[in-house]
Amino acid sequence: MKKLIALVLALTLALFLVACGTSASKESPAASAEASESPAPEAGGKIGIAMPTKSLERWNRDGTFLQKAFEEKGYEVELVYSDNDVNKQVNDIENLIADKVNLLVIVAIDGESLSNVLQSAVDAKIPVISYDRLIMNTDAISYYVSFDNYTVGKLQGEYVVKTLGLDLNDTSKSYNIEFTAGDPADNNAGFFFNGAFDVLKPYIDAGILKVPSGQTKFEEVATAQWKTETALNRMQNILASFYANGTQLDVALCSNDSTALGVTQAIESDYKGTNTVIITGQDGDEANLANIVDGKQSMTVYKAVANEAVVTVDLADAILKGEKPDGSLIDSAGWTFDCTYDTESYDNNNAKIPSYLLVPTVVTKDNIQKELVDTGYYTMGSDGYPKAAG
Ligand code: BGC
Repeated sequence: MKKLIALVLALTLALFLVACGTSASKESPAASAEASESPAPEAGGKIGIAMPTKSLERWNRDGTFLQKAFEEKGYEVELVYSDNDVNKQVNDIENLIADKVNLLVIVAIDGESLSNVLQSAVDAKIPVISYDRLIMNTDAISYYVSFDNYTVGKLQGEYVVKTLGLDLNDTSKSYNIEFTAGDPADNNAGFFFNGAFDVLKPYIDAGILKVPSGQTKFEEVATAQWKTETALNRMQNILASFYANGTQLDVALCSNDSTALGVTQAIESDYKGTNTVIITGQDGDEANLANIVDGKQSMTVYKAVANEAVVTVDLADAILKGEKPDGSLIDSAGWTFDCTYDTESYDNNNAKIPSYLLVPTVVTKDNIQKELVDTGYYTMGSDGYPKAAG
């Protein structure tokens, strides 16, 4: 009789678990995040953070800020870097799941390659925050935290228009521009490129901006893994093929600082002209800020990753406390920086992912002190170049 009761109890429990599993998978990602199987205790719990690589400067800063902020809130942190190797990142995430983290924060190396491993996160009811880059083709993502990526590119394009004083009604002058975009495996890269290109296209159509290489499509100008060396080699080829005859290059529109660094090196070594080429960037990497101080790079779009980390930690904390965060988190968290809650713009091919988007800032030689040093994000080194704080 006792055995029969035990069997009935076991069967009931099994049916209950199956039912929970099925209903959770039909819920929105945010709702399933709320139903995390192993909610963290009031203070504490384990956070798994998967970063792409240490070789691109900013992810070192992101990792440090995130780890520190989570630990200050009483969480334990497992932070992994995956050497820009997609298979390694899949393994690293598998290990974090096996280590029973309560929540995952992931920057995907390839936004389309994590669907399988993230199914294990869904099965284990581990909420996932897609950090900075949107992870595609999965129902595992509860939230996306990033900057307004389209605006990053838009700011670069607008900088070019303003600096050259372009006017659609004045076709008497024309300028030459070349584009260098980011990694096609990074969902952000298209947003950056489109943001810049949409601003500049009317001037290209009017013949005010010319592209001697003819390379204007994202696939033609993309840079695998955002590698400095790849950007350098491509720009050297462009200079050899289209500028060796003395043609003037006026603008090198680069989507970020790692690519700008390569393009700047190519221009320094292989460009015959004597004019200062306008070079754009993004991130505020130290080497690029030094180039800005020295007049070799014109601008960077700065994204305060310390604030991106703050949003992520407050969001994770709310999720793990069983809340279902939405736009009201922006007020309740009391952040001192601007952030918008956007439920429309970022679709990962599975659902529109609720997004917290921060606001990027244009940094030039003229406002480095005000925007980066006075704000405490950097200190000014004794060599006159800014050094990232933290
Ligand atoms: C980030 C940029 C960064 C690039 C390369 C992008 O996803 O948004 O800030 O420059 O990756 O690391």
